[in-house]
Amino acid sequence: MSETGNKKTVKIHEGDPNTTGHEWDGIMEFDNPMPRWWLWVFYATIIWGIGYTIAYPAWPMVSAATSGITGWSSRGQVEAEIAAVDEANAPINAQLEALELAAIPGHPELEGYAVSAGAAVFKTWCAQCHGSGAAGAKGYPNLLDDDWLWGGTMEDIHATVSYGIRNEESDDARYSAMPAFGRDELLEKAEVSQVVNYVMSLSDTPKDASEVAAGAVVFEENCASCHGADASGDIYQGAPNLKDAIWLYGGDYDTLYETVWNSRFGVMPNWDSRLSEAEIRAVSAYVHQLGGGE
Ligand code: HEC
Ligand code: HEC
Repeated sequence: MSETGNKKTVKIHEGDPNTTGHEWDGIMEFDNPMPRWWLWVFYATIIWGIGYTIAYPAWPMVSAATSGITGWSSRGQVEAEIAAVDEANAPINAQLEALELAAIPGHPELEGYAVSAGAAVFKTWCAQCHGSGAAGAKGYPNLLDDDWLWGGTMEDIHATVSYGIRNEESDDARYSAMPAFGRDELLEKAEVSQVVNYVMSLSDTPKDASEVAAGAVVFEENCASCHGADASGDIYQGAPNLKDAIWLYGGDYDTLYETVWNSRFGVMPNWDSRLSEAEIRAVSAYVHQLGGGE
């Protein structure tokens, strides 16, 4: 019965189910039982739900969830997927390890595989220092150009990546140390300034032309043994080329002064203890084809 006083229009016929007693504007609510099929589906979902929480990790406990009797875990599933990929790649990885390093770049199928696998290794392990595009940063060499501190052949790159540079973990790490000419009082301030101006003149950025001639003498006596008489560097000592205007630390007066005064000691980890031989070869092939590989 509505409050506006409309007359009740619905009649209850004989045989009609009970009503719930609710009524809105003359519309009444029958009290029908749930359809059978619906009820069974409902019970089935409850049973399935209980079964699921028994079979799979489900209930949160203090430190971890219940593990479920099937032993399934998302981590285990990922591990199984990785194992499957490793297994699928095993034959080609074996080929990669068997081939001579220098031959990899000339082997189209293997190189294609190595470069794409190497790109993934690079993103995971190398990009944080060398940049995601391998363009480097101050102190971290650009791997895209053909300016190499330690050499750009497959063998060179492979050795650099395997053992690293100036680290304390690998006995085979590449090692050299430029003296701290100022800090260790090997040169006077004036001599450091002269040699810096000489170095700048080599890449056509002279700071103070009057110091260049004196700087050339300082260079000859103190620097040529590592950087070469013509300053073109020495890959056996990781001594950079100083006349190509490609700078690891920087080519302005202040940065060069700092480099000569305190020296530098760039460290790269060794990867032979962390990556498989196939991964090291893959990432070496990747770096090699970036543009500067010799
Ligand atoms: C923790 C930082 C760091 C990580 C990570 C790192 N590197 Fe390096 N890498 C360096 C530094 C620093 C140098 C330069 C050292 C020096 O001054 O001689 C270098 C040098 C190199 C060189 C020598 C370049 C040349 O001109 O001869 C290669 C090749 C190289 N890295 C490849 C890699 C690869 C491949 C990875 C990943 C597997 C990697 N690096 C990961 C810091 C890193
Ligand atoms: C014992 C060998 C050795 C001697 C001697 C030496 N250097 Fe170096 N120099 C190196 C090495 C190795 C590096 C690279 C250091 C690094 O990457 O951490 C370097 C780096 C540099 C750099 C940085 C280049 C860049 O790209 O940023 C400059 C500049 C430089 N040296 C100038 C000099 C000058 C000037 C002298 C002489 C006063 C000198 N070096 C003497 C080995 C030497």
